[in-house]
Order: sequence, then structure tokens, then C-alpha cells
Amino acid sequence: MNIFRTKNLDQLTHEAEETRLKRSLGSIDLISLGIGAIIGTGIFAVIGTAVAGDAIRPGAGPGIMLSFTLTAIACAFCGLCYAEFASLVPVAGSAYTYSYATLGEVVAWIIGWDLIIEYAIGNVAVAIGWAAYFHQLCEGIGLHIPAWLSVDYRSAAQAAAAVAKASGEVDPAIALNYEAWINAPQLFGIPIIFNFLAVAIVAFITWILVLGAKESARVNNIMVAIKLVILFFFIFVGIKYVKPENWTPFMPNGFSGVWTGASLIFFAYIGFDAISTAAEECKNPGRDMPIGIIGSLAICTLIYVVVAAVLTGMVPWDKLGVADPLAAALAYVGSNTAAGLVAFGAVIAMTAVLLVFQYGQPRIFFSMSRDGLLPPGFAKVHPKYKTPHVTTIWTGVVVAAISAIANINEIVELTNIGTLFAFVLVCAGIIILRYKDPTRPRAFKTPFVPLVPLLGIASCIYLMAGLPWVTWVRFGIWLLAGLVLYFAYGFWKSRLRS
Ligand code: ALA
Repeated sequence: MNIFRTKNLDQLTHEAEETRLKRSLGSIDLISLGIGAIIGTGIFAVIGTAVAGDAIRPGAGPGIMLSFTLTAIACAFCGLCYAEFASLVPVAGSAYTYSYATLGEVVAWIIGWDLIIEYAIGNVAVAIGWAAYFHQLCEGIGLHIPAWLSVDYRSAAQAAAAVAKASGEVDPAIALNYEAWINAPQLFGIPIIFNFLAVAIVAFITWILVLGAKESARVNNIMVAIKLVILFFFIFVGIKYVKPENWTPFMPNGFSGVWTGASLIFFAYIGFDAISTAAEECKNPGRDMPIGIIGSLAICTLIYVVVAAVLTGMVPWDKLGVADPLAAALAYVGSNTAAGLVAFGAVIAMTAVLLVFQYGQPRIFFSMSRDGLLPPGFAKVHPKYKTPHVTTIWTGVVVAAISAIANINEIVELTNIGTLFAFVLVCAGIIILRYKDPTRPRAFKTPFVPLVPLLGIASCIYLMAGLPWVTWVRFGIWLLAGLVLYFAYGFWKSRLRS
């Protein structure tokens, strides 16, 4: 009767050996895997609010370059801990699997429950970002999709209120939301507004995943190449329009804007931790894992900071609070064709991110169900397609339903707090295990323990503290619900009980 019971590591390794995965990945493959999961909605969409702020968030302005750097440092500390964690438990899996074998069931459950926020809720934000760019892309080629099918109700209502307050003047940043409010069909006097585009992309991804689409290394490499080319293209075109005076003041809302910006833009880095799930397929995990994690973080940081510099140099910072800031900036300086190309690249980049997380979430549910912590139905495998179709479809339905109505910034904040909390647990786990189990072989050792994990914990808590209190409340409710569920179900049904 112990909530800290652990899975037997020898047994785990034994199970893994029975279904031995090929050790074929090198550090370059891992870097590519990382970039595939990292570059998406963060740099293409969330950066807009992080720079310009909104009614409740002070914008970072050009200081967003500093926000990106601070966040990258926090991620690097955590990345080193992830690399050790993955090499300690040499089987395929996520932080959930590693912690089940090392830190105990209740911690594993909390991490698994928390990963739902990172993967499923994170994907809600990616789907909403995708919809914004897809809408723009269609407009660019003359295909009009009604605004009321591509935004959320609350943003539209807020836009209508803002326009009424400004005596009818429409700020371009909220024009689409306002258009949705004006043109939506009505039912009993209530405008019908929902993000059909976000629902459609989630449904499509779910469908191909049920049929067994597995992101192959080749497809991933192609998508990564497109992402990088598009961001380089943005830099190349945009740099000609940079006016250095747009960079002053550098921190228009002081350091608090930079801090809030960092807490929000952390979203742009989420995904590097997914590299650790490939530990079992790595040729030399001890060497390749840290290179893959730190390498992809370093490359993304460099690109992000340069994109941020060009973006805030092209357009005054307070004009960037739109859903598609990179394309909007190019349109602002008159490069409509370039804006269209960037919108196209953004749509591809976000589709890649959606695939990674929409693929990962059902497999985490699957492991949790196989361990008895979730009902057995979650571990069903499709007789023909051999995919975990039940969990894939459930994930799709929930992600699609929330993305139809949710506001992207609130979802990003919830994703960030959940992911940061999982990082805190992973960093803490590294310290605990060094004391609890010092002799277990580790292909990679985090340097300067406990300093690096402690810095990881401190920087994650710092970023969490930059998020609004309402996000903390939502996250608290989520964790509490998770614990109730564990004590009502998983604790009793766990396979470790028998
Ligand atoms: N880092 C991923 C993105 O920005 C989640 O889309």
C-alpha cells in the first residue's frame, strides 16, 4: 500500500529487449527531431502578444530578444536533466515512464497527468495558431473563409466591445475578430462563432494517426527543412526593412514586460524534451542525447533571437499584437507575396508540431492504461491498423472541442505552467536519484549536480511566477483533479498492486 511504489527496472529493460528497437539515430537525427517539435506556433504566432502585450499582459517590445535568451537558459538547465533521466532508464518512453521506474507511482501519475497539459492542451494552442495562418493563406490566394469560422467567440465579443469603446474605430489587430462578430449568423440573437478551421486540422491529423501515420525521419527532415528555409527567408526579406529606431525604447514596459514575455514565449521552446523519448533508438545515448537536446535548443534560440530582432525592427512593437505577426509584418512593409510564402511555411511548421504531440499523447495514455492507472479501454489497439485508436480518437475529440472555443493566449499560459511544473519535477528527480540510487549506471550525467538541477528549478519557478494568477488557479484545479482521480482509481487498480 505504497504510493511511492516503483516499477521494476530490470523488468522494464527486459520488456524493451523483447521488442528491441533499432539503434539507428545519431545526434543530427535527434537535433532534427527536436526542431520538428520545437519550431511552430511559438515563433509564428505567440510572439505577437509577447511583443505587443494586450489588455492584461505588458508587452516585451524589442526586449523580446532578451526574453528568448532567458527562456533558453532555463530550458538548457532542464534539458541537461532530461538527458540524464532518459539515459538512466534506457527504454522508450516519456518522463512518465522514467519517473515510474525511479521516483514512484504517485510522482509518475502527476507527471503523466501534467503531460496532458503539455501535449493535448499545447496542441489546442497550435491548432488555433494554425487556423490563423491558414485563414491568412487562403485570403492571400483569394479564397475567403468567413471570419466567424476561424476565431473564438470571446475574442470576437471583446473586439466588439473595444470597437464600441473606441467610437467605431477598428484597430487592425482585432479586425478579424470584429469582422466575425459583425458577420456571424445568429441564433436567438447570439452570434454563432467558433474556430472551425482549428477543429478541421485536428480532425484531419487524428484521422491519419488512426490509420497509422508515423512520422518517419524522412518526412520530419523535410518539414524541418521547410521551417528553417521559411524563417531564413523571413530574415532575408525583412532585414531590408529594419529601422533601428524601432528598437528604442528596448524595454517599453520595463523588465516586467520582458519577464511576462519570457513566460509566454516559453511555449516556443516546448518540444525539446520530446527528444528524450527516443533514447532507446539512439546509437550512443550518453553522447547523442545531450548533443541533441542542447544542439536543437541552441539552434532554435539563435534563429528566434534573429527573427525577433528583424520583426521588431520592421514594425513598431505595439503594432504586432496580431494572430499572424510574421506574415503581418511583411504585409505591413508591402511584401504581400513574401507574406503569403511565410504563411504557407507557418502552416507546414505547425502541422508538424501537431503531428508530434497528437502522436505522443495517446501513447502516454496507452502506457498509463497498461499500468492500470487508467481504464483498460485506453490500451486498446486497432485490429487492422495496429494503432492505439481509442486514445487517439479521444485525444482528437477533446483537443478539437477545446480549440473550437478557446483563446490562444490563455491556452498557451496553461500549457506553459503545466510544462514548467513537469520540468521542475524532472530536475528535482535528478537530485533525489543521485542520493537514492547513486550507483545505477548513467550513460549521461548532468554536470554540477545539484547546482544545475537547482538552477533549472529556480528558473522554471521564475517563469511560472510571470504567469497570471488565474493560470495558477486553473493549474491548481487540474492537479487536484488528477490527485482525486489517482486515489479514486489508479491507486486501487494499479498493476503494481497485484
Ligand atoms: N514549441 C511548439 C510551438 O511553438 C509547441 O508550436
